[in-house]
Amino acid sequence: MTKLAVIGGDGIGPEVAEAAVLVIEAVADRFAVPLSVDRWDLSAERFLREGVTITADEMDRLTGDYSVALLGALGDPRVPGNEHARDILLGLRRHADLYVNFRPCKLRLPALCPLKAPGGPIDLAIFRENTEELYTGLGGRFKPGTPDEIATQESVNTYKGVERIVRAAFEYATEHGRRRVTLVDKANALVHAGRLWRRVFAEVGAQHPGVEQDAQYVDAMAMDLIRRPARYDVIVTSNLFGDIVSDLAAQVTGGLGLAPSANLHPGSWALFEPVHGSAPDIAGTGAANPLGAIACGGLIFEHLGEPAAAAAVDEGLLASLEEGVATPDLGGRGTTREVAEWIGARVRR
Ligand code: NAD
Ligand code: IPM
Ligand code: MN
Repeated sequence: MTKLAVIGGDGIGPEVAEAAVLVIEAVADRFAVPLSVDRWDLSAERFLREGVTITADEMDRLTGDYSVALLGALGDPRVPGNEHARDILLGLRRHADLYVNFRPCKLRLPALCPLKAPGGPIDLAIFRENTEELYTGLGGRFKPGTPDEIATQESVNTYKGVERIVRAAFEYATEHGRRRVTLVDKANALVHAGRLWRRVFAEVGAQHPGVEQDAQYVDAMAMDLIRRPARYDVIVTSNLFGDIVSDLAAQVTGGLGLAPSANLHPGSWALFEPVHGSAPDIAGTGAANPLGAIACGGLIFEHLGEPAAAAAVDEGLLASLEEGVATPDLGGRGTTREVAEWIGARVRR
């Protein structure tokens, strides 16, 4: 029995997570995948009510008793310091050492692309390093609140950390018949980290001679992703650049509402989340696009070794787009729930 923990979170998080659960359960029924779903209240609401973000025991149980977890989104204007999101989301990534943040961005229908000339089909696989660089929390403030305040935010890049994410990207490329891996960095200015990443990229790349490889500075790459996105294939990059590039890539392929992600440590517990945030501007209106969260369902079934179930999620999702059953961000008139119900019904057919 696969045990799925669902953390709705804040804003549109619970809305899109429930939409995904509806589809995941329909697919699990159809393909006889034994699955149980538990909801976990880890949210700004809970933090404000109890003063607790996530306890050590909850962290252990979530990562120990469950096969996988799905997170809607975390972030609430009432928690301006964002403590709960860091403790829960970054905390789980760190606790379970989920060093791969896999963010696929595929243009499913040409009409979804906002660009005049994408130059061909877009099918990107972003490998974002997920535990290091500017996300370790190392650093601090000196003389806070004074005109002499100093803030440092350390960028930590270890050989072990860089090697394993670069390797994950190349192995994915080789296993999936991808043509090219592009390293995205800022080695011209951030020279210490840059040298390490480029050395490791060359070392690991040499073990994958059948895959084209190149490196690009992140500023030029951001431009190029708009100019000729179809050129890109597998992208490997550090934590912060991966965060930014994945939102950009999502927009190029139809918008943030469509993009899923998987936080992985191969062979171990995994956490799935849409790339978007809690979108407080549309929370409670029914306008949240559930497709990013629903696509997480596809990634979950793939992770569980259920490719037919994964394909059914993808097929249902594509059909909804083709039929124009969509939320307002895609020009449709459907609600979050209606889109999910339509896909769920199609899967059960
Ligand atoms: P956001 O992704 O929440 O929203 C950016 C824009 O995209 C908004 O206009 C929003 O309405 C729109 N949007 C996002 N998801 C959508 C969807 N599914 N359907 C339709 N439109 C959608 O980014 P933000 O506004 O910078 O952040 C809001 C909060 O979310 C912040 O607290 C931030 O820290 C948090 N956040 C959380 C996660 C996460 O939990 N994984 C990710 C990103 C941001
Ligand atoms: C994401 C989010 C998080 C990140 C935030 C909420 C801490 O933007 O999952 O992309 O920066 O990783
Ligand atoms: Mn992000």
